[in-house]
Amino acid sequence: MQIFPSMLASDFARLADEAARVEGHADWLHIDVMDYRFVPNLTLGLPVVESLLKATTIPLDCHLMIEDPDRWAPSYAEAGARSVTFHAEASKAPIRTARTLRAAGARAGIALNPTTPVEPLLDLLPSFDLVLIMTIEPGFGGQVFMDETLPKIRRVREAIGDRDIWLQVDGGITNDTIGRAAEAGANVFVAGSAVYGAPDPAAAIDRLRAIAQG
Ligand code: DX5
Ligand code: ZN
Repeated sequence: MQIFPSMLASDFARLADEAARVEGHADWLHIDVMDYRFVPNLTLGLPVVESLLKATTIPLDCHLMIEDPDRWAPSYAEAGARSVTFHAEASKAPIRTARTLRAAGARAGIALNPTTPVEPLLDLLPSFDLVLIMTIEPGFGGQVFMDETLPKIRRVREAIGDRDIWLQVDGGITNDTIGRAAEAGANVFVAGSAVYGAPDPAAAIDRLRAIAQG
């Protein structure tokens, strides 16, 4: 059970300090890249990721909520992000892009919005190291977890079995919802406001992990 704090809920003017606050508690850091096109919000891109890579030893998990990830995703892996996830809805060549990410030394992740069916992707699972089931509509932190996504999490867990493909959930993960996501089969949990909105982010991570472990 791994907890990845989302830096979207941290202070963007102090990213290095915000990373340091969770060191030794966060498994990895989740970085939300948004382009005002795939989602109606804009965050940060490659230059900021490159700077953050120099400022922390915690591995970075880049979640690309962008159009044309086939073109842009590889540069995040080449920069040193240890995992790069792009959206199935935005990719025209997901297998090729996953291969490029792996060749650059990163884990390759595929993300699905709440209404995107997983069945067409099940045959592609061996191409990926991570499947991200969005448990909110992407674009903003602080939204409410959608219980409607739980059956999809269960189906993906069934398809993965015990292969080393991480099943990640992102959106609305809190002390109240993480247990349901874990029970459905998720094993990597992104949490933004539940971590950086807490008075002690490191303690919040430990608590979330303890609940996920049941
Ligand atoms: C939203 C992002 C999430 C976001 C989650 O599109 O993908 O990673 O930071 O925020 P919370 O945990 O507050 O729902
Ligand atoms: Zn995210």
